[in-house]
Amino acid sequence: MKYINKKLSIDKHYFQDIAQKYNTPTYCYSYSKLRENILNFKKNFKSISPLICFAVKSNTNVNLIQEIAKFGLGADVVSVGEMMMALKAGVNPKKIVFSGVGKTTDEIKYAIDKKILLINAESKSEIEEINRVAKIKNKIVKIGLRLNPNTDAKTLSQISTGKKENKFGVNEKTFYEIIDYCKNSKNIDLNCLSVHIGSQILDHKPYEKMLKVVDNILKKTSHKFEYIDLGGGMGIKYTDDSKKLNYKKYNLAIKKFLKNKKCKIIFEPGRSIIGNAGTLITKVIYIKDSESKKFIILDAAMNDLMRPALYGAIHKTLPVIKSGKVSKKTYEFVGPICETTDKFVTIKNFQELQEKDYVAICDAGAYGMSLSSNYNLRTKPLELLIKNNKIKIIRKRQKHKEII
Ligand code: LLP
Repeated sequence: MKYINKKLSIDKHYFQDIAQKYNTPTYCYSYSKLRENILNFKKNFKSISPLICFAVKSNTNVNLIQEIAKFGLGADVVSVGEMMMALKAGVNPKKIVFSGVGKTTDEIKYAIDKKILLINAESKSEIEEINRVAKIKNKIVKIGLRLNPNTDAKTLSQISTGKKENKFGVNEKTFYEIIDYCKNSKNIDLNCLSVHIGSQILDHKPYEKMLKVVDNILKKTSHKFEYIDLGGGMGIKYTDDSKKLNYKKYNLAIKKFLKNKKCKIIFEPGRSIIGNAGTLITKVIYIKDSESKKFIILDAAMNDLMRPALYGAIHKTLPVIKSGKVSKKTYEFVGPICETTDKFVTIKNFQELQEKDYVAICDAGAYGMSLSSNYNLRTKPLELLIKNNKIKIIRKRQKHKEII
């Protein structure tokens, strides 16, 4: 994304033109950025040749998953819906891992029927259920067991998953108990240890700690795991002053961890693949003056992009056309929804905006559209993909008649 003649552009297309042609709010994805992210991710971990399973929860658009699958990536899914979507997009079932704390019997049956690579289980009860279903189907099912390494990912508490108070995975003691249980369960083949300590991680040290915990556990058991699934969580730069994850150090730590082991690494990245490849374009409907600030009321709202309301997340917000004139008042960018948290960002010294101007909310490709809802009975936005200079509609704007 860059300004050309004061107009914000993406892959040589002006956001202003896109907004006028396709209306707003609209998610716009850049194929070239997506490609760059995938190639960078592969390059960063080339020396350990991992299986990379895209975390579908970060973006469930079938066209995008299809493009991602063309690079040989698999999928990390957390519901039967995501599994169906990944399969529809052409992801190889042998590259699908199924995560999540509450898989239902029907979901387990579906996963077994589709012969996916792994069901990553998170409790003894769940493994008992997988064993029961597998026995009825007379199958041996490969599973992973998610460890809760009690490691602080040093990220937002709401997206931290690896501490003992979080619902995810099992603790060390239960881990060994489950290994023993699996040894005696004829229809289960425990061949993966999985961990995922959280999301939007910008410091490699929590990953190093996590690897140490896993290493210690592996030393204490004779059980051999074919795969170690390290989850995702690699953070991106949402703001100019944000830290950057040091992939080199993370990769080095994994290499060290893998010494004298014959395991294959699985990753489940979401945000680092699609996050900065998507922008939400929105129009200023009204500007309302209050004493200390101006409310910039947008046609996008928390139902379209939930991250700021849910986590206090900040997304860089830019004018689509640069005027150079700075506003004297602070701007608070809000949506039309009847919730005080329906607010995107507060910015001092933003450029002066007029009603009907467009703004771009950046880095909205991950957990943007996938977290959207019909709250206030608002329709879901349009999604566009810019690829090879062409703009393609990859999901139509929802119509009211579809939801009423
Ligand atoms: N694997 C598992 C088991 C996960 O729970 C997640 C994310 C991922 C992989 C992918 O993580 P990523 O590479 O995208 O960080 N809605 C929040 C993020 C929630 C993440 C949930 N789990 C947000 O908007 O920041």
